[in-house]
Parts: sequence; C-alpha cells; structure tokens
Amino acid sequence: EQSGKKSYLTKAGDAMLVHARTIMRHLEAASEEMNDLRGEDSGRLRVAIASTVNYFATQLLADFARENPAVEISLDVTNRESLLSRLEANLPDLALMGKPPADLDLVSESFMDNPLIVIASPDHPLANARRIALADLAEAHFVVREPGSGTRVAMERFFSEQGFPYQKSMELMGNEAVKQGVEAGLGLAVVSAHTVEKELTLQRLVQLDVDGMPIMRRWYVAYRKGKRLSPTAEAFRRFVIEAGARRSELAS
Ligand code: PGA
Repeated sequence: EQSGKKSYLTKAGDAMLVHARTIMRHLEAASEEMNDLRGEDSGRLRVAIASTVNYFATQLLADFARENPAVEISLDVTNRESLLSRLEANLPDLALMGKPPADLDLVSESFMDNPLIVIASPDHPLANARRIALADLAEAHFVVREPGSGTRVAMERFFSEQGFPYQKSMELMGNEAVKQGVEAGLGLAVVSAHTVEKELTLQRLVQLDVDGMPIMRRWYVAYRKGKRLSPTAEAFRRFVIEAGARRSELAS
C-alpha cells in the first residue's frame, strides 16, 4: 500500500486491506480503552524508536524493566520516516525520536540533547586541526545515511543554511554502516554523538573540531494526540523524561 511498492492484490483487495487494518487498529484501541476504564493495565508496552535512539534506549528499557519486572516490552527500531508512518498507524504506545513534524497530531516532550558531530578516521589530515571552517571541507567527501533518516535531514538542512555544497561519496543504510564507511576511509560523516561514544574512546574514529558544530538537536518522547496512555506507558514516559534530566545534570 506504500507508494512505489508493487501490490499483488486486486484493486478490491487493496481497498479491503486498508479497511481491515483500520478495523484492527480500532479493535485494539477499544480493548485498551476498556482495560483502562476497568482500571486494568495490559502490562504491555510497545515502544518505537528512531535507529539513532537505539544507542541509549536499550539501557533505558533495561533500567525500566528492572524496576517493572511484570511489564512485557516490545521495541521497534527504525529510521525517522518509518517511525512516523508507524505513529500515524497508531502502532506504538510511545515513540522516542527527533523533533516531530508539526503536521502530525502528536503530543511530544523533549528529554535530552542530541548533538550531531563530524567524524573522520584517525589518519585523516584534519584529525588534529582546530576550528576547521566548513569551507576547508569543500574537497572532502561525505558518507551519508539513507533518505528517511532524521540525521540526514538535519545534516542537509544545516549545510544548506550555511551555503555549503557538500560532496557525497556514498549513501549507506544505518549508523553502523556509516561508521564503518568512515573507518574504512570512504570520507567524513555527520552522526549523532550517541552513536560513536565507544569508537571515540577507543580512537577508532575522531571528532573533527568544525566551526558551527555540533548541530544541537533534541530527542522527544511522543504519542498520538487523543491516545489514552496506559499506566505502564505513562510510567515509561515519565521514566524517560527523568532519565534525560539526570543525564543533563551530570553533563552540566
Ligand atoms: P535517524 O534518527 O537518523 O536514525 O532517523 C532520527 C533522528 O535523528 O531524527
């Protein structure tokens, strides 16, 4: 049913599928709402996260699970674009993501910084340079994330605001592939600092000191407007916001 994808159903099948999915969603929502009204909590928690969030979300979920052992958690990891369509389809209880678009009816609250930095392999000629101007990177090539990645959108917005026409060497799917591309010498990349904590410590990658960077973004916890959060989902939402506040306190 997604644009560009070939469907093997008949026209009537396609139309029926859309309605069947809507009915399933409504049945599920109705059942959850009834549980809520009875004061029951299914004890299930469906969390969808942007792939970049995965670098810290697993720890958050582990901490939450330790405090709430009866909760059954499912985690769906995907890039920003797929995450938005899952939210639109009302699949997750909560999403952890970059700034939600204004045209989606979401309730969202920011909980933590997401600095985007430029990374290079340690033998890059600019690895030890100070205060590099973007213009000094005019000859450089960048490995970039797939279209649909929030990191990629933010990087492109920043470069275009700065009037910097970056050169792309390769497009790779996911943060791990991008990091490996940079380690292999395919070029520089813009990534969230969360994704490279280990590699920077082990000096397998270095952070370039580029003027105007990091691009400072924030992470948000979001859910569909009008959705009735179960007590479990609400507990996790508060847990995430408190964990973000603790992390900011430690960093300051
Ligand atoms: P992504 O991260 O690049 O993995 O899609 C989400 C975001 O930064 O908005």
